[in-house]
Amino acid sequence: MRTNLNKPRTGLRSWLLVTGLAFLGGTLLSAKELNVYTHRHYKADEEINALFTERTGIKVNVVSAEADQLIERLKSEGANSPADLLVTVDAGRLQRAKEAGLLKPLKSEVLEQRVPAALRDSGGHWYAYALRARVILYAQDRVKPGEISNYEDLADPKWRGRLLIRSSGNAYNQSLLASLIAADGEEKAEAWAKGVVANLARPPQGGDRDQIKGVASGLADVCVSNTYYLGMLLNSKDPAEQAAAKKVTVLFPNQSGRGTHANIAGAGLTVHAKNAENAKAYLEFLTTPEVQKLIANGTYEFPVNRDLSLSETHKAWGEFKLDEVTFPQIGRYQEQAVRLFDKAGWK
Ligand SMILES: [Fe+2]
Repeated sequence: MRTNLNKPRTGLRSWLLVTGLAFLGGTLLSAKELNVYTHRHYKADEEINALFTERTGIKVNVVSAEADQLIERLKSEGANSPADLLVTVDAGRLQRAKEAGLLKPLKSEVLEQRVPAALRDSGGHWYAYALRARVILYAQDRVKPGEISNYEDLADPKWRGRLLIRSSGNAYNQSLLASLIAADGEEKAEAWAKGVVANLARPPQGGDRDQIKGVASGLADVCVSNTYYLGMLLNSKDPAEQAAAKKVTVLFPNQSGRGTHANIAGAGLTVHAKNAENAKAYLEFLTTPEVQKLIANGTYEFPVNRDLSLSETHKAWGEFKLDEVTFPQIGRYQEQAVRLFDKAGWK
C-alpha cells in the first residue's frame, strides 16, 4: 500500500487528535515528543517524520550534524541531553557510541522480528533500518563483466590511473577499510590502501556521485560508491546526471566470498532518553513495510526487511549477498582504518 504524504489530515481520528491536543496542558504535550540527533539529511526523512507525527501525534524534533559531532555533544551534555535517539549512517559510529556508554538497550519483539540479527546489536543498543551497499561501478564500454569482482582487485596494478574513490575522511571509506582489516588482516589491508592510492586517476575529491560522473566522463574506468547515490543520479531531474548514471554498471563485490560491504542507516536509544516509548514507536514505524518502501523509493537505500519487493531501481541492480562476516567488527577497526589511510597517503 502506498501512502500519499500530501494527503490532507481528514477523518474523525485525526480530528480528535488535533482537537484533543489543542485542549491538553503543556505537561502531556511535552511527552508527545521525540528528540532525534541525526547524521541524515534527506527530504524523504522529513516526509516520513511528518507521517509519523500525523499517525501518532508525536512531534519529531531533529538536530542534524556529523555523527562524530553528535557523539561528542551527547558526551558533553550527559544527563542533561535532550536526545532520545542517535541516528547515524554507518554501523561503526553506533558501535562506538555503544562502547562509550551513550546508548541503552531498547527491547522490541517487533524490531527483533523485522531487523535481521546481523543488522542489529544483540543487546538492542541499536538497530539498522536501511542499507546502502558500497559497490564497485565500471564503465560499460571500457570494462568487461568479470574483469573485476572483489574489493581486493581495486589494488591490482592493472587499474593504474583508472580508479576513482573519495577521501579517507569519509565514514563510508573508513568502514570499508575496517571491513578489509577484519577480513584480510592489517598487513594486507595496508597494502590494499597503498595499491588503491597508486591506482587513482586523480587525488580524492568530491562525493560518491562525483566518482560516478568521473567514470561516465572517461576520467577513470572504475569507481566505488554507495548504491543509493547511483539511484539518485538515475532518478535525477537533470538529464545529464541520468545519462552519466546509465554509462556505469553496478558490481556487487566479493559475491563468491564474504559478500558485499554495506553501510547501514541505524538508530540507538540514548542512555538518558526521556521519551523511550516514543523512540521505540518511531523505530518500529520506520521498519513497517509501508515506511520501508517509502525509504527505498525516497533515498534508494535497501530496506532491511529483505522480504519486501524491491523498487524498479533496486531490481535493475539485482540481488546481492551481504557481508555479515565483518559487519559486527567494523566499529572495532575504524580507528585502525584511519591510521592505515594516513600511512598509505590516502588524502
Ligand atoms: Fe551519504
